[in-house]
Amino acid sequence: MASTYGAAQVLVASNRGPVSYAVGEDGSLNAKRGGGGLVSGLSAIGSDADALWVCSALSDGDREAVRRGVGEDGVRMLDIPADVHADAYNGIANSVLWFVHHMIYQTPLEPVFDAEFRRQWASYETYNRAFAEALAEEAAQGAAVVVQDYHLTLVPGMLRALRPDLRIGHFSHTPWAPPEYFRMLPDDVAGQVLRGMLGADRLGFLTQRWADAFTACAEQFAGGLGGTRIGVHGLGADADFLRKRSHEQDVEERMAALREEIGEGRRTIVRVDRTELSKNIVRGLLAYRRLLQTHAEWRERVVHVAFAYPSRQDLAVYREYTAEVRRVAEEINAEFGTPGWTPVVLNLKDDFARSLAAYRLADVALVNPIRDGMNLVAKEVPVVSDAGCALVLSREAGAFEELAEDAITVNPYDITGTATALHEALSMRPEERAERSKRLAAAATALPPAQWFLDQLDALRG
Ligand code: F6P
Repeated sequence: MASTYGAAQVLVASNRGPVSYAVGEDGSLNAKRGGGGLVSGLSAIGSDADALWVCSALSDGDREAVRRGVGEDGVRMLDIPADVHADAYNGIANSVLWFVHHMIYQTPLEPVFDAEFRRQWASYETYNRAFAEALAEEAAQGAAVVVQDYHLTLVPGMLRALRPDLRIGHFSHTPWAPPEYFRMLPDDVAGQVLRGMLGADRLGFLTQRWADAFTACAEQFAGGLGGTRIGVHGLGADADFLRKRSHEQDVEERMAALREEIGEGRRTIVRVDRTELSKNIVRGLLAYRRLLQTHAEWRERVVHVAFAYPSRQDLAVYREYTAEVRRVAEEINAEFGTPGWTPVVLNLKDDFARSLAAYRLADVALVNPIRDGMNLVAKEVPVVSDAGCALVLSREAGAFEELAEDAITVNPYDITGTATALHEALSMRPEERAERSKRLAAAATALPPAQWFLDQLDALRG
């Protein structure tokens, strides 16, 4: 029996993997490595630990790489048919489960759980099964498997049935919906999601609030947690990496360019996000407009640097949201701009070095999501900031649990309140700003990614 087991002792499963491929004009494959908490977490266990990352091919380049047998050590990409993946990722994970957990449906008209939803749900099951089967094949006897996120809620239960010997964990990077919102899902689907998750030995969440919401759903709709344990691991910023990376030459160059764009002696309100519905970028712009209306003294003296990077552009609602962000920014510039002052500097193209440059020179960071699992930007800015930065933070971000004390906190729906908070943040004395920023950075780095990952592994094995 044991001979049919794989060799991996530690396995991670996630939709998006640590590497992606693009086919060049000459037909060659170019690999691009990604960053993030999981990448540094996994590197902490060392290269001799027989670790394997199972992920999905996401692009034509990725699929081509799988077909040509091109790959990186320690990574297995699954060539799930493109249409199945699209139904599971765009249709279910991002248009249903993401909307439920972030509570962002416009409920008079949506959701609509019809035959099309049922068809996509069948793809989500197929996609989860492909992961469960690959993990069952690759895992050594008694290995630890950590499954990531709402894309893969059914995997723990499916894998448990295939390989009862494994230690199975699941970690949610999103919020979890409270029972009264979660029950919007059709009963059988809600039951499948909960039973799938409860197939794990241990479930990890970013904050106590999301862990409690899951427990409440399990109690109300699945008869309780059974033997499944719950843990909270508040992923922190990677201080060593960020401090080093933010002082490299390309960041310095972008700082010089940004300074020029902003103009001599002006304050900056910085935001950096994916253009994501839950990030509340439009209300952030409305609050800034309100600030310029009610506090005319800031006109010409402040610039809102808003970086909103493309995300999930296969979904019409994300494309429309991006267009709305652009429209409102242009409206503000048309209303208040002068020949020497552009009130909003909006950039929709992803550039990590430029994000770090903005972090370094931010006077104020605006982080106002409607609802957010953690929000790492709130943690990264104080770590990188040169002179200290005031943080305007939504009470609906997971980071609120750790950062509220030294942030200026807001109700993300309250435009007037957010405008007042921006004024307060801009007016904060430099010494106070520096002190608060220091404490924010300490809280933000309390659990670096490597430790975050090792803690979960220890808890799963223990
Ligand atoms: O917050 C959940 C999450 O899956 C993160 O882990 C990730 O940074 C983000 O969403 C990006 O999502 P996508 O893979 O759809 O771009």
